[in-house]
Amino acid sequence: MSEFLQKSIVISGKKVHGRLFLAPMAGLGHIALREMISEYGGFGLLFSGMCSAKTIVHENRFKSSVFSWRDQELSSLVCQLFGNSPEIMAEAAKRIENEGFFGIDLNFGCSVMPICKQNCGAALLKDLSLCRKIVTSVRKAVSVPIFIKFRTGWEDNPHMAVKAAKIFENAGADALVFHPRVAPDRRTRPPKWEYIKMVKDAVLIPVFGNGNVMDKKDCKKMINTTGCDGVSLGRIAVVKPWIFASLTNNFVPDTGTYLNCFINMANLFEKHFESVICVKLFKKFARYFAANFCFGHSLYTGITRADNIADIKNNISNHLVPLPEIALTPNMNMLM
Ligand SMILES: Cc1cc2nc3c(=O)[nH]c(=O)nc-3n(C[C@H](O)[C@H](O)[C@H](O)COP(=O)(O)O)c2cc1C
Repeated sequence: MSEFLQKSIVISGKKVHGRLFLAPMAGLGHIALREMISEYGGFGLLFSGMCSAKTIVHENRFKSSVFSWRDQELSSLVCQLFGNSPEIMAEAAKRIENEGFFGIDLNFGCSVMPICKQNCGAALLKDLSLCRKIVTSVRKAVSVPIFIKFRTGWEDNPHMAVKAAKIFENAGADALVFHPRVAPDRRTRPPKWEYIKMVKDAVLIPVFGNGNVMDKKDCKKMINTTGCDGVSLGRIAVVKPWIFASLTNNFVPDTGTYLNCFINMANLFEKHFESVICVKLFKKFARYFAANFCFGHSLYTGITRADNIADIKNNISNHLVPLPEIALTPNMNMLM
């Protein structure tokens, strides 16, 4: 499997050096997490959390905690956009192209209320003609690769997902990342991987599978049962930023890895975010990282009480020296 994951793939004429992607995650997949992941390596592409197409056109990358990046990561970074206006999405896409990102990802998958209420994300799947217009408009505006992140739709019917996939492909999308869950179902029931195979069989462009891949066994199973071209990893990449290196290069964390990673993350947050945002985002990250430990709740609770990054670092040292027992599998209850 690691050979397959390291095999390059060409997307719209651009070479990607690996088939494991970091899934877009608002509030988690920011510049700091991506820098940590880059230190371990093993990924093909990194996706930003969703950025509003409306604001991106005039966003200041040095002030935004969402639309920000390191120049070194641009060649493997894809910026995800959400919105519902074909014209505004195209304008935002032009900026992303001009900044030098690898590509653009259009969000047709987010099912959280604040996004769906604005008729964005998964809500767009109720109107496939608007989906087509958005992709066509973005396609006309840019030549960088266009990815589509989408889910099954609003009812448990894989034929709707297949229909949407064909519409995306015909409108000019270059690759699909498919999360086989219905929209009101957040992460309570398992995703139906068999739908990934149906989507893969229906289009010619590459299809990447997403949903509940937590370890090597899951990854192998998704690839073998769906025939997908690669895998997009979400929550597990926050729990174990070295997961890409583990799956592609057999990286095995030792006892030092956990403490070093946690402390390095605190340093990276301090480097990239101003103090209030830094503490807020670190607490979000810590909830996931704490899922590595058998008694992760007490570690997480300690961190939620911290007011500043110095308190956070003290908490980490107090809880992680000596290293608490590592859970055999991450505590899923902590992964919202
Ligand atoms: C906190 C959080 C934020 C997310 N934000 C986004 C987002 O901005 N855009 C998007 O397309 N999906 C978003 N997702 C969904 C993930 O990309 C992914 O589809 C989902 O977590 C399932 O994959 P996993 O089981 O590997 O985590 C988010 C998920 C989580 C947990």
